[in-house]
Amino acid sequence: MEQHGTSEAPPGPAGQGARPATAAPRLAERLTRRKPVGALVEESGEGEGGRLRRSLGLGQLTAISIGATLGTGIFVVLGEAVPMAGPAVVLAFVLAGLTALFSALAYAELAGMIPASGSSYSYTYATLGEIVAWACGWCLMLEYGVSVAAVAVGWGQYLNELLSLTIGLTIPAALSQPPGDGGVVNLPAAAVVLLAMVALLGGAKESAWINSVMVVIKVGTLVLFCAVAFTAIDAGNYSPFMPLGIAGVSAAGASLFFSYIGFDAASTAGEEARNPQRDLPRAIILSLVVVTALYCLVALAAVGAVPWQDFAGTDATLSYVLETVTGGWVWSVVLSIGAVIAISSVVLVVLYGQTRILFTMSRDGLVPRIFSRIDPRSRTPRANTLIVSAFIALLAALIPLGHLADATSIGALFAFGLVNVAVLVLRRTRPELPRTFRVPFSPVLPILGVLSCGYLMVSLSLVTWLTFAAWMLAGLALYLGYGMRRSRLEPGTARETRP
Ligand code: ALA
Repeated sequence: MEQHGTSEAPPGPAGQGARPATAAPRLAERLTRRKPVGALVEESGEGEGGRLRRSLGLGQLTAISIGATLGTGIFVVLGEAVPMAGPAVVLAFVLAGLTALFSALAYAELAGMIPASGSSYSYTYATLGEIVAWACGWCLMLEYGVSVAAVAVGWGQYLNELLSLTIGLTIPAALSQPPGDGGVVNLPAAAVVLLAMVALLGGAKESAWINSVMVVIKVGTLVLFCAVAFTAIDAGNYSPFMPLGIAGVSAAGASLFFSYIGFDAASTAGEEARNPQRDLPRAIILSLVVVTALYCLVALAAVGAVPWQDFAGTDATLSYVLETVTGGWVWSVVLSIGAVIAISSVVLVVLYGQTRILFTMSRDGLVPRIFSRIDPRSRTPRANTLIVSAFIALLAALIPLGHLADATSIGALFAFGLVNVAVLVLRRTRPELPRTFRVPFSPVLPILGVLSCGYLMVSLSLVTWLTFAAWMLAGLALYLGYGMRRSRLEPGTARETRP
């Protein structure tokens, strides 16, 4: 194995000057070393034994972000949010969308400057130092890795519902539930992860193409929903508009934030984009605009067609609305097919994002080198994809993921908050770097971004915070035991040493 011990003091990929082999770098220097932006740009696409293929254009990058975002939130969580806010659930979507927008602008500025596949991990490595970058990457494993497993479990439930609606059969609990939830193994959840793995092994371009088709289908399903539900609008259903006051809207907004997670997924494709500096900011903002518009329209149609009190306890909420409106089961089948496809594309894209984040962390030495090895034929990180998929498929098959799924939101919010901080830091430390997109009204909007992420984090439950604390402690132990020693960056790199 290659040596990265600090006693060897190899020049990092950025090529910083050599240090004497006997230098004993202080712990603080190691924890705060920063990766120069120039190095991040220079090594973009490089892996062990090859380069990633730059094949993705603006349309596919936008579809990657929409693919990762539109899923369980609108198909399931909407049903939980309506009883909290009443018809004003539409405002709750706007509120959650605004919070997402502050962070999306920050992602757009940094993705346009730093076309790395590590997303917020790479941005914090350049600005806040290695230990914070590691914490951010570790949180991204919650936002990406753990959420794939949770979403896959949801996919299995929709598949069962679809089977029951169409052929009157369901997969028995023993084979569709994990131990602890009345079953032995959750086969459908593992199967969808393995299917996504097969697509990813085919190549980023092929996977992006499959995802684009699924995105068109899921957007089409939601447009169809609006078209049918709008024909049954009863204006009386909108009154009173805010029966549970502002507090109800805020609570619904906090839980609906989950439905916006994923808009940052395009930033994990920075090293496979044809023109990342130009296209990544556009893809991130465009996807958020499309998703917000769709969510507000779907919510407006749903609470206009059915009295808000009727949403309590509904599972497949959108199917329920159409069934109530049309009095038939055909639309339930259409909606369930749409949901199965929608959630498949979340699994595919979020799994992709997780492999690329680990790819970048591995290139920096913070996780084992096998994660950045590139298969010469497909020019994808094949071993990485196999290991990550197998691990997540096992997780999805064997563990009831309720609490861990909540942890997805806290991990994402932590990463989003750091990205806003990174914008503020780079505006001060590297004002001259070319930016293809600039957050308007800085520093006001990035500060609002940090505050809104913090606000949503504190409104999450104690159990979620305890899970988060345990996760972060495990991450710290791993970093101190492995990443800190293997980092390829020379200790003490606290300032930019090259453009
Ligand atoms: N935003 C993603 C979803 O709603 C996590 O499924």
